[in-house]
Amino acid sequence: MALSLRNKLVIWTLIFVGLLLLNCSREREAKIETTEKTDSTTCAKPLVNPNGDSELALLMRAMRDTTKSFKEMIMAGKVPTKFPDVFLKIHSAQPTDNETKKPSFNGFADGYLAALKNLSSSDDLNVKVNYNALVQACENCHSEHCPGPLGTIRKLKLK
Ligand code: HEC
Repeated sequence: MALSLRNKLVIWTLIFVGLLLLNCSREREAKIETTEKTDSTTCAKPLVNPNGDSELALLMRAMRDTTKSFKEMIMAGKVPTKFPDVFLKIHSAQPTDNETKKPSFNGFADGYLAALKNLSSSDDLNVKVNYNALVQACENCHSEHCPGPLGTIRKLKLK
């Protein structure tokens, strides 16, 4: 049985809308990727660092990924107990631009390390509060030092 003209029209409309939606979500993904890649460009002019990503930027990406994995663990009902020693380097890691680290940097860095230590000694009852305190420590430093990643950081919070 041949399809009526009306049915054909409906099918073509559905295909067209489907393709539009697909394209839209691809564009959104591409946009998210570029935002994450260019986060540090809001803190320093990229020209300052023609040799690639700074030690601090790489450390920050690892901090972001580790925090994300803590969040997933907690959501799965587990408590992260390992203190990641690599992040002690936050004090000495070289930023993209020497001007980036303001005098308040070390205080914020200590706040972050203290929150990290606290999280690693959490139990079931306080793990969520301690985790959100860690994300707050990221946010505190970033409000003053490098506002670019604030959106990414806030998304790490546990509700
Ligand atoms: C003591 C201050 C401080 C703390 C705490 C801090 N950051 Fe950062 N972060 C910075 C600075 C400064 C930069 C810019 C680095 C550069 O320009 O080389 C940065 C850069 C970043 C970037 C961009 C990296 C890139 O791709 O270029 C991300 C993402 C980020 N931080 C996430 C986090 C997260 C998540 C936390 C908490 C787990 C955190 N930060 C804690 C100061 C801080």
